[in-house]
Amino acid sequence: MPKSDRRDPRVPTGNPSVFANSRGSRGCESSVTGPIVTPAPPLRYYRSKCVSGLAYVPLAATPTYNATKAAIHSFSESLRVQLTKSNVQVIELVPPATRTSLMGQQNSDVAMPLEQFLTEVMDLLRTQPDAEQILVERVKWQRNAEAEGRYQDVLNVLSARYRE
Ligand SMILES: NC(=O)c1ccc[n+]([C@@H]2O[C@H](COP(=O)([O-])OP(=O)(O)OC[C@H]3O[C@@H](n4cnc5c(N)ncnc54)[C@H](OP(=O)(O)O)[C@@H]3O)[C@@H](O)[C@H]2O)c1
Repeated sequence: MPKSDRRDPRVPTGNPSVFANSRGSRGCESSVTGPIVTPAPPLRYYRSKCVSGLAYVPLAATPTYNATKAAIHSFSESLRVQLTKSNVQVIELVPPATRTSLMGQQNSDVAMPLEQFLTEVMDLLRTQPDAEQILVERVKWQRNAEAEGRYQDVLNVLSARYRE
């Protein structure tokens, strides 16, 4: 069987050149500094931060990107606590691999169709207005891996191309 056919269908292709090595500092600027320093309007009720399933189990091909998302997760946790007594709600949006042009996966069968992702997100926002994280079903495989004792298995799947 060709190597590519053995890959787990849940693993995004990833592009090692994205947010890695020489482009790492630019990735940090947009993924970490941007969300942290962008000021919220003073009376805004919702403050959303876009994280990723890769904050919870990294994709070996995109080390800097994974780290920026883990940083935003941690930042959001602290911000939520600091804003406990305010009227601001901090919500983490945690997408799985989704069909956008971010890493060239806009036509990828292994990424979630964008419309399906958006529909599920809007449903969750409507039905779980107090949720701290918006988790579509498809991202729970990564998000809950550690809590469910599957971390090493998921890491192995996401690292498969380096282990074959
Ligand atoms: N797609 C996925 O699989 C996936 C999975 C997990 C998390 N996410 C996260 O979801 C968020 C949105 O990603 P996406 O998939 O929608 O990607 P996308 O389609 O490539 O859109 C990225 C957006 O960010 C803007 N942008 C990029 N660098 C910027 C900068 N330095 N300053 C200001 N704007 C900048 C782009 O603006 P221009 O159009 O003007 O370039 C574009 O509107 C990101 O935080 C991404 O990490 C995506």
